[in-house]
Amino acid sequence: MTATHEQTLCAKAKDRSALIGIVGMGYVGLPLAAEMADAGYTVVGFDVSQRVVDLINAGTSHVQDVPTERLRAFVKAGKLSATTDLSRMREPDCIVIAVPTPLSKTRDPDVSYIVAATESVAKTLRTGQIIVLESTTYPGTTRELMLPALERSGLTVGKDFFLAFSPERVDPGNPKFNTRNTPKVVGGITAACTRVAEAIYAPAIERMVPVSSPEAAELVKLLENTFRSVNIGLVNEMAIVCDKLGVDVWEVIEAAASKPFGFMKFTPGPGVGGHCIPLDPHYLAWKMRTLNYRTRFIELAGEINAEMPEYWVTKVVDALNDAGKAARGSSILVLGVAYKKDIDDIRESPALDIIRLLERRGAHVAYHDPHIPEFKEDSLVMRSVPLTVATVRAADCVVIVTDHSAIDYAMVGQARAVVDTRHILTGRAPR
Ligand SMILES: NC(=O)c1ccc[n+]([C@@H]2O[C@H](COP(=O)([O-])OP(=O)(O)OC[C@H]3O[C@@H](n4cnc5c(N)ncnc54)[C@H](O)[C@@H]3O)[C@@H](O)[C@H]2O)c1
Repeated sequence: MTATHEQTLCAKAKDRSALIGIVGMGYVGLPLAAEMADAGYTVVGFDVSQRVVDLINAGTSHVQDVPTERLRAFVKAGKLSATTDLSRMREPDCIVIAVPTPLSKTRDPDVSYIVAATESVAKTLRTGQIIVLESTTYPGTTRELMLPALERSGLTVGKDFFLAFSPERVDPGNPKFNTRNTPKVVGGITAACTRVAEAIYAPAIERMVPVSSPEAAELVKLLENTFRSVNIGLVNEMAIVCDKLGVDVWEVIEAAASKPFGFMKFTPGPGVGGHCIPLDPHYLAWKMRTLNYRTRFIELAGEINAEMPEYWVTKVVDALNDAGKAARGSSILVLGVAYKKDIDDIRESPALDIIRLLERRGAHVAYHDPHIPEFKEDSLVMRSVPLTVATVRAADCVVIVTDHSAIDYAMVGQARAVVDTRHILTGRAPR
């Protein structure tokens, strides 16, 4: 009796002879490629960026979570390579898609990268391949967008080829949880699709969490990030409430967190950043609008979080006012422009809004960030200034936006005025 494609793929997973293809070698794709190579698979990364492909093939990592030495060892051993030649997608047994899913200018989902990647896969689809989408997206993408394009080949899903969704949960810069030890949810179009996907990932990921459909798996990711967005929105609103009541929000949060059940600690800050929390809930909101339902929690949390930069800029203006100064002509030092601590990513960072809002008021803004030596975002082109007693003292106000570990906060405490959006200057109440 000849083996089914499911049996063949599961056997190839077991002895690691399955060739893994990863489409999109960015923050998500490269760490996954490294884990797959570590598990004993041979991995080929596909990317439309020649720069990314050249870097990987030279053994140089462009993603902070994958050290160059680790990548170089895989490249040298022939376990990991990259190519811009998308016609080679016929070669892998498993193709994981991890391309960007941004929002359009009107804040609607932009699934054009998923469509483009799916078309590339469809052109060379063959029997015995499994395709897994990892990009965060609205429920229905795998079944409604990808499946018809792949079935145009005449092949049958669940029998000739397999299709599943498995959300990426990577938390860049997290010292404890990485791709390997973060449980991985997977939902296939058919039960066989789920089984094959589980078998392929199992050697590289400590725990797999199968669900009954791609829609459930797609929603898991959106629930997780909506949960964070809503709770951050709630605690940001609580910060505004406490400010108006003259109560220290941090004292309230710490005391509330002493409750051993029914409370989860979230902390207020300058807003939300990165390519997940500010964007992903909009994917769900958009999908629900197509079904005539308005996701009110999502929209309200998004509004409050988006207003936080303005709130903190008002605090800067108040601090300047206390010193008898106007915002116009003042010199402000922003500490940290990355969207969260100890990472080098400024995408959607609230620091950028804070800088723009301060400049709009006529302030002269400089920044220091040990992870971002320079950046260009639309009209903003800036270079990090050194953090010295002189630069700290020269500023009319220092605004702590990102609480990077490498910053000497005792020195920052010597500033004429500090607005601390992260409550990092211990012992000082946020202003
Ligand atoms: N970065 C995170 O922390 C994170 C966490 C969880 C989920 N995600 C999700 O994972 C997905 C990927 O995000 P990312 O941060 O890795 O993006 P990224 O921008 O770092 O990497 C994406 C890569 O895909 C490449 N690419 C674009 N179109 C392509 C195509 N048609 N064919 C081949 N390559 C193509 C790009 O050149 C880029 O190198 C997104 O849906 C994102 O929402 C990201």
